[in-house]
Amino acid sequence: MYGRVEAPHSNRTDLSNLRKLSVYLWEYKGRVLLALGCLILSKLLVVAVPLVLKEIINTLDADTGDSARDAVANTITGNDVLLVSLGLVAAYGLLRLGNSLFKELRDALFARVRYRAMHRLSTRVLTHLHELSLSYHLERRTGSISKDLSRSTSSLSSIVNLLVFNIVPTIAEFLLVAVILLGAYGWHYTLVVVITVAIYIMFTLKFSGWRMQFRHEMNRLDSLANGRAVDSLLNYETVKYFNNESLEQRAYDQHLSDWSDAGVKSQTTMSMLNFGQAAIVAIGVTLIMMLAANDVFNKTITLGDIVLINALMLQLFVPLNLLGVVYRGLQYALADMDLVIKLLELNPEIQDRVGAVDLHINEARIEFDNVRFAYLPERPILKGVSFRVEPGKKVAVVGPSGSGKSTLSRLLFRFYDTDSGVIKIDGVNIRDCTQSSLREVLGVVPQDTVMFNDTIRYNLSYARADATDEQIKAAARAANLDKFIESLPQGYETMVGERGLKLSGGEKQRMAIARVILKDPAIIVFDEATSSLDTQSEQTILEGLNAAAQRATSLVIAHRLSTITDADEILVLDAGVIVERGNHDMLLANNGLYANLWMLQQSAEDDVDS
Ligand SMILES: Nc1ncnc2c1ncn2[C@@H]1O[C@H](COP(=O)(O)OP(=O)(O)OP(=O)(O)O)[C@@H](O)[C@H]1O
Ligand SMILES: [Mg+2]
Repeated sequence: MYGRVEAPHSNRTDLSNLRKLSVYLWEYKGRVLLALGCLILSKLLVVAVPLVLKEIINTLDADTGDSARDAVANTITGNDVLLVSLGLVAAYGLLRLGNSLFKELRDALFARVRYRAMHRLSTRVLTHLHELSLSYHLERRTGSISKDLSRSTSSLSSIVNLLVFNIVPTIAEFLLVAVILLGAYGWHYTLVVVITVAIYIMFTLKFSGWRMQFRHEMNRLDSLANGRAVDSLLNYETVKYFNNESLEQRAYDQHLSDWSDAGVKSQTTMSMLNFGQAAIVAIGVTLIMMLAANDVFNKTITLGDIVLINALMLQLFVPLNLLGVVYRGLQYALADMDLVIKLLELNPEIQDRVGAVDLHINEARIEFDNVRFAYLPERPILKGVSFRVEPGKKVAVVGPSGSGKSTLSRLLFRFYDTDSGVIKIDGVNIRDCTQSSLREVLGVVPQDTVMFNDTIRYNLSYARADATDEQIKAAARAANLDKFIESLPQGYETMVGERGLKLSGGEKQRMAIARVILKDPAIIVFDEATSSLDTQSEQTILEGLNAAAQRATSLVIAHRLSTITDADEILVLDAGVIVERGNHDMLLANNGLYANLWMLQQSAEDDVDS
């Protein structure tokens, strides 16, 4: 997942992105504050552990010091010392326990905040992806959509993890240690610690940045070698046909040998990094210990102080070990988050206008008035199309492939806005209605039906969530689908496969018809609804279609002219212009494009029949 080189982005965008993120985390303010409280408590206890250790040493040390001088007092103080040091040791244990208790408490408290934020952000991303226009989705590559979703959860989670559980605690601890050193031992200790930590951080970041290339190279070669191996196994037969096993093995071998070289480099540079870090720590700690030894010699501090300082230093550098990894991880997560936030800021092309009203169907009259439209400005698709479908009537659109027929349906559903001209339903411009109310009154049998990877029942009831079993069965019957479903061993519970691939083209089309019958909308668009059906099924279904369309206003896009001879009006669309219009008989008499198409199709059908 970190295989990508992140796009350069400035700290300022990082900061503003973090601010946008914090909205999601801030929902549970109380918990966040409690968790922070736990964090501070656990860090206080962590730092207190060496403090108690110091007291233990000093008590024991004082005991041995006394014994040489005063043998009588020794027996009395000896017991006290024992008690005191036992008490201190117990406190030491309790502190360690308390530290992990508050640490775990912090994680547990924060879990709700973190998962809730992930949950809300992902929902937001999905909602937004649904809001974005069709044109946006058509430009995407398959797979990148699911990445958008996983990216939103994973980047948020990593950022929170790294910041809250790693970076902030380390900074808190560093500050505490600095304060203790400054307060108890003077500025020169603090100075050495600050300088050591600064050098350590700089070295770690620079060095990790440099050795990252070997990791990237390793990842790249790893997926290359894997891809090659998998591909050669998928093409098992081809490899055998051409007797190319040794070629495949050599290629795999080459990738793997490069991979192992990169692996060795990655490992040796890792060792160098670790050694460099250890050296910086060793030098810093030695300097501090020299200062401390000097002070002990001068009796300004005790032996216990040396132990304290040493323990504080070592404790401080443990979390810093992972700094390189943490820093890289944070960079990747921030880059991902940037993409998610950019996605969320993308405005949908089609939006409800301010004050949009709900569309209420009165008669269901459709009007296209001089509609012009182009997907790409330099290639107009519709060049001034005007027509009307009167309430309850049926208007058919025919014409050559690519002439813009399906585009009419996409515009009616408002997947795109017209470039000029208006589309009205019952006299209301569809741009003035809410999209949801518009689509509520429209039904479509699309040219390509795609199904959810679920059961037949689920896919049918998708048109109307509250449909009863009876209604679903009736719709299936009307679409001539019932016999097919009954012949399936699992009936309505049969899974249709991804995108409905386990159904034949005609079966899918009948599913789509059943869905529209179930939805029972006021306006129906049939886009080549029977193109995948044989003539016989077509006839049966036409009855179902007509039943569905009886009460509805329908726009029928047809390939086979025999299915639309009864239309109230037929529009012949050619290259985005209506070149002929009228009913079937008029158009035949006209002897134009329609008559021509009709002749061609008739003679083709005669050929099939004879
Ligand atoms: N998203 C898009 N971006 C760019 N061009 C598009 C897009 N969708 C469709 N087109 C183009 O618009 C033209 C009209 O497409 P449309 O789907 O309306 O044709 P059609 O008349 O329904 O054809 P068919 O009978 O083959 O279904 C086609 O030339 C097509 O290539
Ligand atoms: Mg089409």
